[in-house]
Amino acid sequence: MFSKDISGRFESEQTPFYHYDLPLLKQTLSECAEAAASYGFHVHYAMKANFNSRILQLVKDAGFGADCVSGNEVNKAIEIGFSPEKVVFAGVGKSDREITEALNHNIFCFNVESVQELEVINDLALKAGKKARVALRINPNVDAHTHHNITTGLAENKFGINQWELPACAEVLTHAKALWLEGIHFHIGSQITDLNVFKSLCVKVNEIKVWFEERGFNIRVLNVGGGLGIDYYQPDVHSIADFKGYFGIFNQFLERKHGQEVHFELGRALVAACGSLISRVLYVKKGIKKNFLVLDAGMTELMRPALYQAYHKIENISKAENEGLVRYDVVGPICESTDCFGKEVELPESERGDLVAIRTAGAYGEVMASRYNLRDEIRFLYSE
Ligand code: LLP
Repeated sequence: MFSKDISGRFESEQTPFYHYDLPLLKQTLSECAEAAASYGFHVHYAMKANFNSRILQLVKDAGFGADCVSGNEVNKAIEIGFSPEKVVFAGVGKSDREITEALNHNIFCFNVESVQELEVINDLALKAGKKARVALRINPNVDAHTHHNITTGLAENKFGINQWELPACAEVLTHAKALWLEGIHFHIGSQITDLNVFKSLCVKVNEIKVWFEERGFNIRVLNVGGGLGIDYYQPDVHSIADFKGYFGIFNQFLERKHGQEVHFELGRALVAACGSLISRVLYVKKGIKKNFLVLDAGMTELMRPALYQAYHKIENISKAENEGLVRYDVVGPICESTDCFGKEVELPESERGDLVAIRTAGAYGEVMASRYNLRDEIRFLYSE
């Protein structure tokens, strides 16, 4: 629950809006940075999780790099002040314009997703008179045991280079004059809560690294992606992810030679907990079988429940926590049946005008908002 001070501040605000708890964000960032530094690991923040400028500024100040998936994300990272040496550019469909712009920024590395993309980057770098540093994103075929829509490291996914294509990559890299191989890259999925999955990833990374080394390639960077999951059920108890346990697994199971760096791309685990979507009850509809709370926020502000049946804790912050509980389907105003934040949610008896908080919405919330139904642009409020 929010403190009375904070929820009191919300009363006079126009809803809906995202509230970001910046002290919590700073604490999360410093715990992560400390845990990574204790093993000499490097973390690039996956900007796709939230590219709100205030958040990016704090991430940059905490010493993280930026993992970008579009030319606009690369440009924004540079604008915010991330050093180009700490910017990586990933994505299965980089356009020629995006590649050329990133080359001109002299970014650290392109994470390359196909043999053809290697050839295109080489051609564009030759034209620009630049050398492109690349890492091969390899599909390790490891099951992340997460929601089907956010798993990325299985052979059936569009992401990454399949292992049978590695000889073709090696061939291109041997002859491409404008490419420099920095390392290998993996990302198997998001919201991974079974840490054993990362052990399986380490085993694959070790194998693939040896394959390249046996062929004379120097693999300086092992980028193991992101994916560390968080607890959506108890936002006040486990607001900060288990960074020590997570990095510890890679420290234990990844084989590293002297000078080899380990890079991570965390998104959700850094920013999810600090954000909440604050909304107001517009109507209480009592049905024969069901009661509905109709909010002024919908799937246009937070798409995750509609898209992945994702759970977010819902709280009525205008009422005491356990007063006369009633079950509601909590829905938004959008003309879609999937516009529902939760079914049969137990909440104190609610009324028009009550404020509702949808918690743990700092990652893949604001950035996935849309203007469908010509909704207003999303608003924000920060706690400093
Ligand atoms: N690296 C790569 C290559 C990725 O594709 C992703 C996320 C990340 C890093 C960061 O993963 P994270 O640490 O945040 O799990 N919209 C979905 C999640 C999509 C994740 C896409 N890729 C959701 O709301 O759950």
